[in-house]
Amino acid sequence: MDLRLTDKVCLVTGASTGIGRATAMAFAAEGAQVVVSARSLPPLEELATAITAAGGRAPMVLTADLAEADGPQRLARALHEEARHIDVLVNNAGGSRPLEAWDDEAAWDEGFRLNFLAARRLTEALAPAMLERGWGRIVNVSGAVVAKNFNAATPAKAALESWSKAAAATFASRGVTVNCVAPGRINSPQILDRLHPTEEARRAYIAQNIPAGRFGEPREAAALIAFLASEVAGYITGTTIPIDGGALRTAF
Ligand SMILES: NC(=O)c1ccc[n+]([C@@H]2O[C@H](COP(=O)([O-])OP(=O)(O)OC[C@H]3O[C@@H](n4cnc5c(N)ncnc54)[C@H](OP(=O)(O)O)[C@@H]3O)[C@@H](O)[C@H]2O)c1
Repeated sequence: MDLRLTDKVCLVTGASTGIGRATAMAFAAEGAQVVVSARSLPPLEELATAITAAGGRAPMVLTADLAEADGPQRLARALHEEARHIDVLVNNAGGSRPLEAWDDEAAWDEGFRLNFLAARRLTEALAPAMLERGWGRIVNVSGAVVAKNFNAATPAKAALESWSKAAAATFASRGVTVNCVAPGRINSPQILDRLHPTEEARRAYIAQNIPAGRFGEPREAAALIAFLASEVAGYITGTTIPIDGGALRTAF
């Protein structure tokens, strides 16, 4: 299937590792002009080298801390200064935030800024130009929205899905779609290093929760994101698609 992403300008946040990196690689393989962003520069430069080595167009690299209140606006301004419009926005930067103390105000605040407000703010900065041109795709990477333990990311992802629904309804008649992709367990540094650091812990979790019998690969999540971002997915909006190997539980 031709996704018709050639020459589309696609911004991926949190692009340096995991799902974001695989998504940037997938867009570049489709002939898109990719803009990659994260806080740390060296992994983004390494990604840019990998993309060009694989025959993709040289990506534009922009660092930004999206958990800072003005981070999304500064990223949007940097794009504007380079006279770049964005066709596709993938709000992927984020991460699990298990809490040491259930009332840790600073951790709740940071979890919401990164996992919800950053996507909302960046969309508010970039969607008006998409609406003006009458074409755009916004894919928000959410995750579990129910948990049995306090985690600052979980209610933030629920807010992201709820807000995405309203954004989708608001933009739908003007050629801009908004969807969420909800990963279950996809092999990435946060999953392998922090959430399930040993092979034994992974096996136990998989046996209890994942009928597919394994964690997913970043490229599998990237394929879904690329499809939702494509020309051919124009009638899909306001939805959340899980990618979780048939996970049996919603309350992890
Ligand atoms: N992997 C999973 O199984 C899973 C499950 C549920 C939900 N998700 C969601 O999927 C998305 C990607 O997850 P992942 O596991 O692939 O993540 P990851 O490997 O931990 O990568 C996170 C990316 O976000 C960037 N980032 C982190 N904090 C940032 C900040 N304050 N400002 C800007 N960029 C920041 C990181 O780069 P820097 O550190 O250089 O900034 C990195 O590029 C996240 O939204 C996550 O919540 C993933």
